[in-house]
Amino acid sequence: MKITMIGSGYVGLVTGSCFAEVGNDVLCLDIDARKIDVLQKGGVPIHEPGLAEIIRRNVAARRLRFTTDIDAAVAHGTLQFIAVGTPADEDGSADMKHVIAAARNIGGRMADFKVIVDKSTVPVGTADLVRETIASSLAARRADIPFAVASNPEFLKEGAAVDDFMRPDRVVIGADDERAIALLRSVYAPFQRNHERVLVMDLRSAELTKYAANAMLATRISFMNELANLADALGADIEHVRQGIGSDPRIGYHFLYPGVGYGGSCFPKDVKALQATARDHQLPLRIMAAVEAVNEAQKARLLDKLTQRLGDDLRGMSFAIWGLAFKPNTDDMREAPSQVTVRALLDRGAKVVAYDPVAMDEARRVLGTLPGLAYAASPIDAVDGADALIVVTEWKEFRSPDFADIKRRLRRPLLFDGRNLFEPSLVRSAGLEYFGIGRS
Ligand SMILES: NC(=O)c1ccc[n+]([C@@H]2O[C@H](COP(=O)([O-])OP(=O)(O)OC[C@H]3O[C@@H](n4cnc5c(N)ncnc54)[C@H](O)[C@@H]3O)[C@@H](O)[C@H]2O)c1
Repeated sequence: MKITMIGSGYVGLVTGSCFAEVGNDVLCLDIDARKIDVLQKGGVPIHEPGLAEIIRRNVAARRLRFTTDIDAAVAHGTLQFIAVGTPADEDGSADMKHVIAAARNIGGRMADFKVIVDKSTVPVGTADLVRETIASSLAARRADIPFAVASNPEFLKEGAAVDDFMRPDRVVIGADDERAIALLRSVYAPFQRNHERVLVMDLRSAELTKYAANAMLATRISFMNELANLADALGADIEHVRQGIGSDPRIGYHFLYPGVGYGGSCFPKDVKALQATARDHQLPLRIMAAVEAVNEAQKARLLDKLTQRLGDDLRGMSFAIWGLAFKPNTDDMREAPSQVTVRALLDRGAKVVAYDPVAMDEARRVLGTLPGLAYAASPIDAVDGADALIVVTEWKEFRSPDFADIKRRLRRPLLFDGRNLFEPSLVRSAGLEYFGIGRS
């Protein structure tokens, strides 16, 4: 199958590469010439486990190519996947300008039947908008060419994106056109040899399903964060509570980890966008408003604990930060809670020495050169002479450190664990003071 992937970011690049991996002929388009240049030269602009190898293999087999040429991209694929960014607009609604631009590009150039597939996370009704945009571009050039629009939201997780795409829990297809459904079923057939995972539904339900999934996951996180704060006040240990409720199959263990709040490129903007959609229909989502408010407050939680212990004036102090990416196994820094922590420490006059296994280049790009912020070559280097160690991202390599060595190197024996990574008694037995989330 000839496939065009419009947008070669986290979703477009992973999806396009995995479609090529099962034998399709894939052309990935991006308007970011720098990104395409890196890809054409054999590089990979993002960190995603397993992705570089798939790209290398499929470029060599000539099943995967990259371009900035919109004409070539529109001419190539019968399936045109739109996987561009849909960031939050000022009012919280999803900014649709990239999706509309992609649709205009297709409508202005297509010469034969196309199925346009919205893979970006887009508000309910976007398929209609894309259809109207293409129809009016075709009308403007007096072209009468058949096309169909489908919704195929993506559920991959950064950090495990290749695996998620190759072995999906479900593939949601929203469509009302039989040709589109047949084409999408066949392009996804290689990813579900074990059992059927395709759920075909109407377009609006497919669009809403994606937001509902992220809203539910964000809700679980904020729920646990709020309970963790209560556990702190009550002298209970949220880790016991987590296990006590997670063992109930109606609840389950996933996404019940308290911490410094959710971040990343999806949950914050999707929780906002869903509320904006609901507001447009005079149906405010009270639970989502609370989820968002709890999350905002949670990002300051670790710092509150730190200033309670050390005072508000942190001038002359230095802090080691472990983890900058918004979660492990990615270099994505979008809405990362580490950004809030780093900036707040610097604002209070402290110095920060940060370490992350893969996100330091991205951190330099996103944070810029902030006075007082330095990067360390290893986790233990970051700790040297610091007034406290602050863990912000739960990378595997942080899980079992030498606490005695950390104690020796710290100026004050303080450990703030924003991800409840460590067993408090173990840390305390090494002579460190331990502060977790809900583990008083
Ligand atoms: N990142 C995730 O984990 C994830 C998971 C599921 C769904 N999504 C959704 O997928 C969409 C894309 O997310 P992402 O993280 O891949 O974003 P991204 O910012 O990494 O990539 C988007 C790419 O689209 C390009 N682009 C913008 N306009 C274009 C145009 N007109 N033509 C061609 N390219 C264009 C940008 O230059 C950029 O490289 C968003 O709607 C997001 O919510 C993301």
